[in-house]
Amino acid sequence: MDVFGIIGWPIGHSLSPVMHNAAFQNKRIKAVYGAFPTAPEDIRAAINGMRALHIKGVSVTIPHKEKVIPYLDALDPVAREIGAVNTILHKEDLLWGTNTDWIGVKEALREVVCVKGKRVVVIGAGGAARAVVYALKTEGAEVIIYNRTFERAQSLAEAFSVKAKSWTELAQAEGEVLIQTTSVGLKEDRSPVPSEILPRFEVAMDIIYNPLETRFLREAKRAGCKIITGLKMLVYQGAEQFRLFTGFEPPVKIMEQAALSALKGEDNG
Ligand code: ATR
Repeated sequence: MDVFGIIGWPIGHSLSPVMHNAAFQNKRIKAVYGAFPTAPEDIRAAINGMRALHIKGVSVTIPHKEKVIPYLDALDPVAREIGAVNTILHKEDLLWGTNTDWIGVKEALREVVCVKGKRVVVIGAGGAARAVVYALKTEGAEVIIYNRTFERAQSLAEAFSVKAKSWTELAQAEGEVLIQTTSVGLKEDRSPVPSEILPRFEVAMDIIYNPLETRFLREAKRAGCKIITGLKMLVYQGAEQFRLFTGFEPPVKIMEQAALSALKGEDNG
């Protein structure tokens, strides 16, 4: 029985265990995926535990995606460029760090829109925005970043050779696709985006999945945008992890259904 899991802090509400366990069951793979709450001061011990216990792979979530890097044996070029690891693979006694968050963004977008050559406005310049901007560059989009703290927008824009604009200019923002990457709207009814700009866009995506339909997405839908929930990104990044963990084609619909039911159960509870 192979063991997989997720490290993060806190980890109680992670949807990854139900998503991966549903996929293992569906594919009749003898493996189990657990939630491993890991305090920031215990990262080194957790990574060494992975070696000692022969844990085959782990997902890495907030706030450890950058901090795990020094303890790994190798990093793939994508993780290096994004500067964050969300997946560790244990192969031939070595721990490899990679990143599937950007694939989550790419696949979630592809279901609805082809961003090649389109103007995409990104709201936020934190850790999550890096994978978003990397995916957009890979897909050939024209990217403009707006962030409350301009210096952060500027340094992210420089890292990926895209544009940054000041937060005070947000009311003038226009483009085809709008992606919300800040923490505003997580378990709260707030949006960082002024609603008057929404009718200028065709597609709006949020990386937050709790609530499933954030205020930003609700307002975007009302303004006539097609919307993409953060759950899609979560499912596709997890599906790619499943492929790396097992070598099997991920049962994406099963994973999405499992995540959705767990999310709804949590809302009701
Ligand atoms: P994460 O790794 O989840 O992206 P982070 O690196 O702390 O977390 O980034 C949080 C993002 O949300 C940042 O872009 C942050 O803006 P600042 O760089 O100005 O801090 C943004 N953010 C958080 N609270 C915000 C608010 N009230 N209004 C606008 N942006 C906010």
